[in-house]
Amino acid sequence: MDKRNIQLDDNGQLRHFLTIEGLKRQLLVDILDAAESFTSVTEQTVKKVPLLRGKTIVNLFFESSTRTRTTFELAAKRLSADVLNININASATTKGETLLDTQRNLEAMQCDMFVVRHAVSGAAHFIARHAAPHVSVINAGDGSHAHPTQAMLDMFTIRHHKGEFHKLRVAIVGDILHSRVARSQIHALSTLGVEEIRVIGPKTLIPVEAHTLGVHVHHDLRTGLRDIDVIITLRLQHERMSGAFLPSEHEYFQLYGLTEARLELAKPDAIIMHPGPINRGVEIESAVADGPRSVILNQVAHGTAVRMAIMAKAMQRLPNLSARELH
Ligand code: CP
Repeated sequence: MDKRNIQLDDNGQLRHFLTIEGLKRQLLVDILDAAESFTSVTEQTVKKVPLLRGKTIVNLFFESSTRTRTTFELAAKRLSADVLNININASATTKGETLLDTQRNLEAMQCDMFVVRHAVSGAAHFIARHAAPHVSVINAGDGSHAHPTQAMLDMFTIRHHKGEFHKLRVAIVGDILHSRVARSQIHALSTLGVEEIRVIGPKTLIPVEAHTLGVHVHHDLRTGLRDIDVIITLRLQHERMSGAFLPSEHEYFQLYGLTEARLELAKPDAIIMHPGPINRGVEIESAVADGPRSVILNQVAHGTAVRMAIMAKAMQRLPNLSARELH
């Protein structure tokens, strides 16, 4: 994969949003602050601002999605953009058209932004590298590589509930190896300066290079959860596993499932997060997922405002954001 930071234009402004890696702390804070403003838009009677009026945004989802695709569509509509949702299963992709040809045809229709989800790591980077000069690309999840907008809505949720990042200990529990969400969260948490990041899971589901990301690795959930402020649990990503990584889901739950009893090990006010979709009884029990400390649905709710902020920033509409434009 091309390691150049192609996310910024010649003036250092955000053009594509492909990965958190390499982005400056201030940019992440600007996005979180802008999302705060957009939250008020989502609470108005008329939930719309004209920032992206006249722009056309294409949702290109080659992999299934509930939360991400829907909140991207909502975010684009709330910014007054026109939205095209491409049904990949009914598109010319099924007749052998390449990704590049699909992109070129959509660009010929004067589309301005592609929101891309793909099972192959690097797919969004590929589209960004070949994009016409006026086009921005947002990565909505590529293979096991990155899911940067999910990480940003997670950071928004953490800041909303916990305040400053630098005092926080955050644990990410589960299938770190196959998780694009975990990778993006680790980069975001580290850039925003949290006190400690722990990853917890069986040896088979923790990448061997985890220590190079500045995280503490735990294989025992009990030591890993001790004195933790934020617990992020992840599902087992069976669709990306080739081979046997676990004896059984039952055994996984016995060792790593988040239960009310195990929450006692964390701080009393620790919050529970999950990017979804959740698998009840595998990585989390229902009493925890639906319990008072769970902020799982708050994450989903924040997704729209955070994606509005990222889309507006990539289209370079945030610097001129005025109170009049927001209300
Ligand atoms: N968190 C997340 O990416 O969910 P979806 O797969 O439903 O978009």
